[in-house]
Amino acid sequence: MHIFNTISETQQFLKAQQRGGKTIGFVPTMGALHAGHISLVEKAKHENELAVCSIFVNPTQFNNPEDLKKYPRTLEKDCTMLEAAGCDVVFAPSAEEMYPSLPQLRMDFGSLETVMEGKFRPGHFNGVGIVVSKLFNVVKPEKAYFGLKDLQQVAVIRKMVQDLSFDVEIIPCPTMREADGLAMSSRNTRLSTEARILAPQIYKALNLAKQTLQEGASAKAAQAVVKQHFEAFPAFELEYFEVANFDSLESIEAKIADGKTALCIAAFLDGVRLIDNIVF
Ligand code: PAJ
Repeated sequence: MHIFNTISETQQFLKAQQRGGKTIGFVPTMGALHAGHISLVEKAKHENELAVCSIFVNPTQFNNPEDLKKYPRTLEKDCTMLEAAGCDVVFAPSAEEMYPSLPQLRMDFGSLETVMEGKFRPGHFNGVGIVVSKLFNVVKPEKAYFGLKDLQQVAVIRKMVQDLSFDVEIIPCPTMREADGLAMSSRNTRLSTEARILAPQIYKALNLAKQTLQEGASAKAAQAVVKQHFEAFPAFELEYFEVANFDSLESIEAKIADGKTALCIAAFLDGVRLIDNIVF
């Protein structure tokens, strides 16, 4: 496995590989890898000749400086996991390498970012859009793999690829969960033992809401069920619960076509912001 820290080394190496006819599957990450990330890398390796993973804690997508500071950094362990998963190339640049000066460019995803993560993390998707564009220009992958754990990120990246005619296929991948249902996340390591025991209540609430909607109830009724569920667990601070159209992310009043209803939650637990969703 090759580990590069500079854009030029990475481009030089990958260009030569592509000239030799090799296809590239790319997994952008911020490191602190877990089995969810690794599932993306394994899929990339399975569907392409080369699997490339980037590890970069992108400062421009953090609207909260404390969150950026506390973001776990475990590069050595990440590389061991990537090598075991069959990853071929790791691109792990410094902030200076990625941003010799801060971009003046601004990306605005309109209605895709006036809700949920976009609403509660102003500027977040501008940072994601710019860094993913830069990474696509460095790696030039045929396919790029994104987790549905970040449902809104998948929608934003898909739109960006369409709007800017990026020559890359976006492959959405299922959310990996712990045995108790908690969605795997780099942030889970920041939970106290007590909070970790409570954390699966997020997935429980999503499933209660799903059941309510499947029984024919309205989104409002599902909202009430979720609110009531968290009232029993005061350690949580619910930021939002949305019933949305999977494609447009617009709020919907009740369940729509199969596979198109997305239930999305963000909640603080123990000072850690957790997000999760289910689509049905
Ligand atoms: P990060 O949070 O490190 O996630 C990297 C990729 O792993 C994302 O596509 C994310 O959706 C996916 N992922 C995270 N948890 C997952 C899980 N439990 N199951 C399946 N996939 C999971 O998302 C980012 O980094 C950044 O915004 C990035 C795209 C790298 C841009 O900086």
